[in-house]
Parts: sequence; C-alpha cells; structure tokens
Amino acid sequence: EKGGYATFMEKEIFDQPHAVGDTLLGRTDESGALVLDELRISEEQLGNVDRITVVACGTAAYAGMVAKYAIEHWTRIPVEVTLAHEFRYSDPIVNERSLVVSISQSGETMDTLMAVKHARELGALTISVCNTHGSTIPRESDAVLYTHAGPEIAVASTKAFLAQITACYVLGLYLAQLRGGTFADDAQAVMKELHEVPAKIEELLGTMDRVQEIARFMADTRSVLFLGRNVGFPIAMEGALKLKELAYIHAEGFAAGELKHGPIALIEPGLPVFVVVPGPDSPHDLHKKVVSNIQEIRARGARTIVIAQEGDEDVVPFADEVIRVPQTSPLLQPLLTVVPLQVFALHLSTAKGLDVDQPRNLAKSVTVE
Ligand code: M6R
Repeated sequence: EKGGYATFMEKEIFDQPHAVGDTLLGRTDESGALVLDELRISEEQLGNVDRITVVACGTAAYAGMVAKYAIEHWTRIPVEVTLAHEFRYSDPIVNERSLVVSISQSGETMDTLMAVKHARELGALTISVCNTHGSTIPRESDAVLYTHAGPEIAVASTKAFLAQITACYVLGLYLAQLRGGTFADDAQAVMKELHEVPAKIEELLGTMDRVQEIARFMADTRSVLFLGRNVGFPIAMEGALKLKELAYIHAEGFAAGELKHGPIALIEPGLPVFVVVPGPDSPHDLHKKVVSNIQEIRARGARTIVIAQEGDEDVVPFADEVIRVPQTSPLLQPLLTVVPLQVFALHLSTAKGLDVDQPRNLAKSVTVE
C-alpha cells in the first residue's frame, strides 16, 4: 500500500502533483471560470462578507497564512488567521458578515471543531476546507470545500498541506470572480497558472537527490533556522515544524525581515539556515531584500541553504547550497518551495534512524482539546 516507497510520508510527498491537480479538478467550466456550486451558499451571501477569519492548527494554520496573503491580494477582503485554540477563548470579533474558514485534513481536530461551533454561535458563515468525507467539522459547518489529496496516513502532513493551499486559492479566486471587473480578469489569469503547477511539482520532485544528500550529512545537527518572507514566511515555519516533528531537532522559522530585530543574534559559524527566496518578479523588491539577508547571515558564518527559482543568479554568491524550484508567480510559490523542505525533513529523520511515519508523542488527529 506504500506503492513501492519505503514510508507513507515519502509516498505522500510524491503524490503531491495529484493532490493539487485533483483539488483543482472540476472547479472551472470550459471558459475557465470558477464554479463552486458545491458550496451551496448564494452569491449574495458571499457578497455580503466583509471579513474572513481562518481557524486551524499546525500545518493547516500555515496553509491559512499562505491563504491570507493570496486572498487579501486577490479580493481586498481583510483576512486574519487565528490558531483555532486561541480563537475559541479570545472573544473574537466575528459576526453575521464574517466568513470563518476552517482548515483541517482530518476534519476531527477538536480545537478546530470548537472554533467552528463558536463562530456559528456568533452568526458567522462557516466553510470547512477538509480532506475527509463524512468527518465532523464539515458536518458542523455551513459549507465544505473538499481537498482531494486522498487519505493521508503519515502523521506529518504533506500532500494535505498542498491541497489545503490549493483549495484556499480556489476559494479566494472565486470570491475575486464574484467581485467582477478587473478582480475577475486577474482571477482567471491566476487560475490558468495554477493549472500548470502540478506538472512543475512533478518536475521538482525529480530533482531532489541533492536535498537527500544534504540531509544525510546533517544527521548530527542540533539546530536549524528557516527564513522566509511574505508567502515564504509560513513556508519557513512549516519547514521548521516538519523538522521538529520528524527529526526531533530544534528548528525555528522566522520572517526574514525580523532577523535584525533579534534572531540574527543566534547566527554562529556553521549554523544551517534555510532561506526561502521570493522570485525575482516579487513586488516591493522583496527578492533583493531577502538576498541581502542571506548576505548578512553568511557574513556571520551561517551555512546558507537557499531555495530559489530557476534562473535566479543573484543568490549564488551567498549560498552554500542552492536548491532550485520552477518558476511561477509569487503568490503560488509556496506549492513549490515547501517541497524541498518536506524532503529534507524526511531524509534527515531517516538518516537518524527514526520512524518517519509515526513520530514520538504525536497522533495523526488530535481529538481532545
Ligand atoms: O487534521 P488537521 O489538519 O486538523 O490537523 C492539524 C494539525 O494537527 C496537523 O497539521 C499537525 O500539525 C501535523 N502533524 C503537521 O505535520
């Protein structure tokens, strides 16, 4: 049932082109317009929404953070992301005009379920982004947008994460389409690009040998940092979470811009630092800013492992290792940049002789608060 792979996690990483492709399937018509009849929420109701709150835990919450950047940019509707367990007991500002989007692979996470129930009590419209048919959270929500990642067995979430991001993109682009005008035109263009992503993930998965090697040589590493900016920031945190869960290594993800506000003090000779670099076409000179972060940490002796787009030569002088990802537009990059981080955690865990599919102290779904 592992389809020839040594572990479920590895199989699930290699399933990712399908997880994304299948989550896109059937959600556009022949003209390329998004169709989400399955939501069974009227356009009028959705048009009434003036604020979106995403509630989720762990990796699903990082998918929500990626969604925030994308949905705000595409729709200009304010989006906030709150960890489900923090939402429930924080007197959240949510009302009849709020859309609360929960994200959960299992659909059984108690913290997320409690948040959804609370949001409904407050009068919000609730949509569940979920991978498991017939599970509790979709049943307790007004509507559900299923991710089609297929069953995820490994405790560490991989393909469900990519499918969650994809479903959130679909939702955001649908809301943009409802807004009409240039919002709708832009949404169509992004959707077209999104359809090209599964093939790019496939291509990327074919180039992971060096990542495996890097991991193998790092079995004794005690601490690893991850830096990213904009949509790369949640990806940095996801890279760190994978490493904690699977290799039991101290790992932290930071927003690259935060470096000089504290974390740069951690940099010492030999410390491995992964940097998720925004594509050179990212707005606001983000690419240049992150390249100069790499330069700063390299100057302090960090071992820089840089995830950069194909063709980005600016990173080369400051990188000890460059891991290439195919080009795509800035907001879609997370679907590619996270892949090498997953592969890295998988192989580092394997190099340490650990059980990749069943890390210690963790359960696949957390059904208690
Ligand atoms: O089933 P859910 O998506 O609600 O689970 C949420 C988190 O518990 C989950 O993503 C967890 O962080 C994973 N073990 C991460 O790999």
